[in-house]
Amino acid sequence: TRTMTTNRGALIVFEGCDHSGKTTQCNKLISSMNEKGLSVKSMRFPDRTTTIGQMISSYLGNTCEIEDHAVHLLFSANRWEMSEHEKLLQSGTTLIVDRYAYSGVAFTSAKQGFDMQWCKQPDIGLPKPDAVIYLTLSPEAAEKRGTFGKERYEKKEFQQKVSENFEKLKEDNWKVIDADKSVDDLHTELCDIVCEVIDAAQDKPLEQLWV
Ligand code: TMP
Repeated sequence: TRTMTTNRGALIVFEGCDHSGKTTQCNKLISSMNEKGLSVKSMRFPDRTTTIGQMISSYLGNTCEIEDHAVHLLFSANRWEMSEHEKLLQSGTTLIVDRYAYSGVAFTSAKQGFDMQWCKQPDIGLPKPDAVIYLTLSPEAAEKRGTFGKERYEKKEFQQKVSENFEKLKEDNWKVIDADKSVDDLHTELCDIVCEVIDAAQDKPLEQLWV
């Protein structure tokens, strides 16, 4: 006899440089998926609503200083405190996530004296994304979209190092997408990809990150 199981949802992560339209696209995907009656939820990291998230937010806003290793571990802790969302995945909800451990590694290892292996360590064992959609934008195209904000890390040279680090983190679950197109064209492209990922994930077990 066949037991009734609910197909699990997919864990889909968006990464990309500043001005790539990550957040806009995540929001648009959530609305159009919801309209289609699919069970999807959005998440973002850092999640600034928790106690740890508030410390991170003050750090990013330059209202406090936190030692570089310590803040790296806070970003990771902020993901672990959300790992109960694995239950949502198992019960059939797809999660669309704006940044994940890859941002953690790419940003911290852009600082002096950090090696990538050390940076990966605290996130080992988190739920592994079924797909990482990496939105790319040439520096020229990014520049046309406006200037950097005032938060920590929003500087051209630092962002350049971050992009180089993202390149080193690519694995076979990554899909690199050129974001230099209109919001609507990019949305259409991403809808197709996300639907394929959801289909493919259904019968696969959820894996662990970097194990
Ligand atoms: P946000 O602009 O998407 O809210 O992200 C805030 C900043 O935090 C952004 O510059 C990337 C950085 N960041 C890290 O340094 N480590 C992390 O683990 C994450 C998720 C983000």
